[in-house]
Amino acid sequence: MKKGFRAFQSTGKRMSEIKNIPGSGVTIQPAVLRDFKAIYQMERICFKQDAWPLLDILGVLTIPQVIRLKAVEGDKLIGFIAADLRRSQGTAWIATLAVLPSYRRKGVGAALLRSCEDQISLPRVRLSVRKTNYSAIQLYLKSGYQQVDIWKSYYRGGDDALIFEKIPEPEESSVTPELHPTS
Ligand SMILES: CC(C)(COP(=O)(O)OP(=O)(O)OC[C@H]1O[C@@H](n2cnc3c(N)ncnc32)[C@H](O)[C@@H]1OP(=O)(O)O)[C@@H](O)C(=O)NCCC(=O)NCCS
Repeated sequence: MKKGFRAFQSTGKRMSEIKNIPGSGVTIQPAVLRDFKAIYQMERICFKQDAWPLLDILGVLTIPQVIRLKAVEGDKLIGFIAADLRRSQGTAWIATLAVLPSYRRKGVGAALLRSCEDQISLPRVRLSVRKTNYSAIQLYLKSGYQQVDIWKSYYRGGDDALIFEKIPEPEESSVTPELHPTS
């Protein structure tokens, strides 16, 4: 993921409620336009050279056929995920996923990913990731994704993109994974 955002026509299940992640003060909720500033700042912190410009963030927060969820602790936005639903391809693309550095390795990224998948009613979920992004790749492998393709020199700087895919299982439980206990 990362590179420009563009949305395709499709619809998915809507998330209208706040979801509590058991064992933590973190909730997952729909992201809205007033989260723009926090997401803009998070993009700069988490993606540096790959951070989206203003218009892409505006797009991901406003275009109807996009799932966008935030992780919140107290009043603070600590994580964000968006999925671009492409019904004609039967595919949802995870467009972005980020967790602020001091909240990482607590299960927030996995919980966001799972919550987003729960809202997707398409046959497959795909994403792209820099070949060098070890932590994200580990998260996707642990979350049941498999590499299905490689796009050579896709990213700025010449890194290849690995394309990961997950075929959601209908009977799969929709229970959000627990966060690690805080230390
Ligand atoms: C990738 C990212 C979203 C992961 O968020 P997170 O909240 O730390 O992820 P989780 O705590 O849910 O991790 C779930 C699993 O992923 C794997 N994982 C995550 N970070 C890892 C790391 N730094 N090293 C090794 N494995 C890691 C582990 O298997 C982990 O489970 P464990 O902690 O029980 O071992 C976060 O590191 C991030 O925001 N990175 C910068 C932005 C980015 O690269 N996004 C992905 C773009 S494709």
